[in-house]
Amino acid sequence: MRKIVIAGNWKMFKTQAESEDFLREFLPHLEETPEAREVLLCPPFTDLNSLSKYLHGSRIQLGAQNVHWEEYGAYTGEISAPMLTEIGVRFVIVGHSERRQYFGETDSTVNLRLKAAQKHGLTPILCVGETKKQRDAGETESIITAQLDKDLVDVNQGNLIIAYEPIWAIGTGDTCEAMEANRVIGLIRSQLRNSNVSIQYGGSVKPNNIDEIMAQPEIDGVLVGGASLEPASFARIINYQ
Ligand code: PGA
Repeated sequence: MRKIVIAGNWKMFKTQAESEDFLREFLPHLEETPEAREVLLCPPFTDLNSLSKYLHGSRIQLGAQNVHWEEYGAYTGEISAPMLTEIGVRFVIVGHSERRQYFGETDSTVNLRLKAAQKHGLTPILCVGETKKQRDAGETESIITAQLDKDLVDVNQGNLIIAYEPIWAIGTGDTCEAMEANRVIGLIRSQLRNSNVSIQYGGSVKPNNIDEIMAQPEIDGVLVGGASLEPASFARIINYQ
């Protein structure tokens, strides 16, 4: 069964105090959210422990924004899977384009992180997507196929979420047309061994385009950056029509 998963990626935004302010306003909106929709927040590492306590007993799940492949070691600045699971984190974003672009993440480190996450019972959200230049050159399909081929070596497709995030649509307000996102996500699905993997769309998802995006048959949820930072806008997104 393909699950509907709506995730907020807070990136490097919100202190602990700000994240609790957010939740006070956001939580009441969940009363209107159909049970079948899984709602996830991926705050900075420093918020995870306090939010895990704050959210105990609520239906919001927590995700981290990255995970290292070793359990421990001399890896300054990194966080391991057991450190995340110990505090109740269940999901982790892996291979976000900002990690690939600014922090030298490669398909081979993405692959290591995916396998480590799964080994420790985390569900990874693998991000793939093309740049504007690649799209304009007609390379969207080949780029995504190559990313999937490399990233998914020996990865268990029974415990995986994929997010199609065209890089040109992230944080730009330039959303990919819903039908085009649906087409690419169908293409991604056709390359998987498990057709029940939930595949999200991400890139400038907003209250004014969520209904159209979620009406597409191949799209199983969204990964939301900017619009997940405001309680009212993220509430409108999880309560799409
Ligand atoms: P955006 O970010 O919604 O602000 O475009 C999406 C993402 O980076 O996951």
